[in-house]
Amino acid sequence: MRWLLRSRKMGVIGGMSKVGFNEMRRSLVTSCRAVLLPRFGGPEVLELRDDVNVPDLKPNEVLVRARAVSVNPLDTRMRSGYGRSLFEPLLPVILGRDISGEVAAVGNSVRSLSVGQEVFGALHPTAVRGTYADYAILAEDELTRKPESISHVEASAIPFAALTAWRALRSTARIKQGQRVLVVGGGGAVGFSAIQLAVAAGCHVSTTCGGESIERILAAGAEQAVDYTTEDYELSIKGYFDAVLDTIGVPETEKMGVNLLKRGGHYMTLQGEAASFTDRYGLAVGLPMATAVLAKKQIQYRFSHGIDYQWTYMRADAEGLHEIRQLSEAGKLKIPIERTFPIAQVREAHEAKDKRIISGKVVLELD
Ligand SMILES: NC(=O)c1ccc[n+]([C@@H]2O[C@H](COP(=O)([O-])OP(=O)(O)OC[C@H]3O[C@@H](n4cnc5c(N)ncnc54)[C@H](OP(=O)(O)O)[C@@H]3O)[C@@H](O)[C@H]2O)c1
Repeated sequence: MRWLLRSRKMGVIGGMSKVGFNEMRRSLVTSCRAVLLPRFGGPEVLELRDDVNVPDLKPNEVLVRARAVSVNPLDTRMRSGYGRSLFEPLLPVILGRDISGEVAAVGNSVRSLSVGQEVFGALHPTAVRGTYADYAILAEDELTRKPESISHVEASAIPFAALTAWRALRSTARIKQGQRVLVVGGGGAVGFSAIQLAVAAGCHVSTTCGGESIERILAAGAEQAVDYTTEDYELSIKGYFDAVLDTIGVPETEKMGVNLLKRGGHYMTLQGEAASFTDRYGLAVGLPMATAVLAKKQIQYRFSHGIDYQWTYMRADAEGLHEIRQLSEAGKLKIPIERTFPIAQVREAHEAKDKRIISGKVVLELD
């Protein structure tokens, strides 16, 4: 790794505080270790390289020395070719959305963060330079201070999943105290985040999940957890809901979600079809087709059920990240980690997710 140390001339009389010194040091890393995706395929296509370029920071950007990055389903899907209409012309790309680490340098306009602070955050789904790297670059509003009470490994599992859930429940459905929320697939990272966000907002939460997730979900404050492998949800789930977040998004769960909504309620699926249309037909044709399909469904469900239908996507949101940070600090928003791997074993980590050897959250550690 090559370092260039830039220090500003100091017109300081007398001593210099440690903070002052840190603030004045601008460490510019020009290359680092990173996991590259040179082509789409299985875990074997991932390449850990030592000399990957680190671009200059734009004024609003922050260079983060990564300590832990979590593996999201988007990472393994991207590796296999999901989003190829967008990413193929940009290969090699760096995978990874989530990060927890320390601020190594800040752009000129960054005010809320300074060098040396511990931070966590997540990149947008379409970012090309991801976080599987010793040094990652995120915008200031994609990061927040890491609570001291949680480790880098714990922190790295939270932001991408929790921001996805936050966008659906808080930004789209605008859930309020006393409302009923159904989370389809509450055992996963997004579903479990959604349950905890809805409980924190004072909502009554029901969910479908695997049998092994039930205890954890009820302990987090959900009122009902229905095992989708053994129970008939149509008999088990009573009444109607204000919001349904469907993390599974297959026709069967969509039908259930839509039928369980009150008039005026919100159905939000994580399995929007924008990428599948653009991958199949290219950006120019696929994007308008996806927009038309979504619009048709929205009109159809508004007419037939009186509900709002949405494809929901993760988006960086400073307000959301702030709330997520506060809840994590208070111990009210956690995502259990099933296994960690050193970054050098990234292929093994992806293989374990692909083959479903590990169902829970996997985190890659960077020393
Ligand atoms: N649109 C977006 O921007 C966006 C953002 C993030 C994620 N996603 C997508 O959302 C999905 C979930 O992501 P994640 O990070 O939460 O994944 P994850 O942590 O791997 O969770 C997946 C969970 O789904 C549960 N599950 C599987 N089939 C189910 C069914 N029929 N009914 C109920 N639960 C079922 C399993 O829970 P049990 O262990 O309880 O069986 C599993 O743990 C993925 O497909 C991902 O690609 C989309």
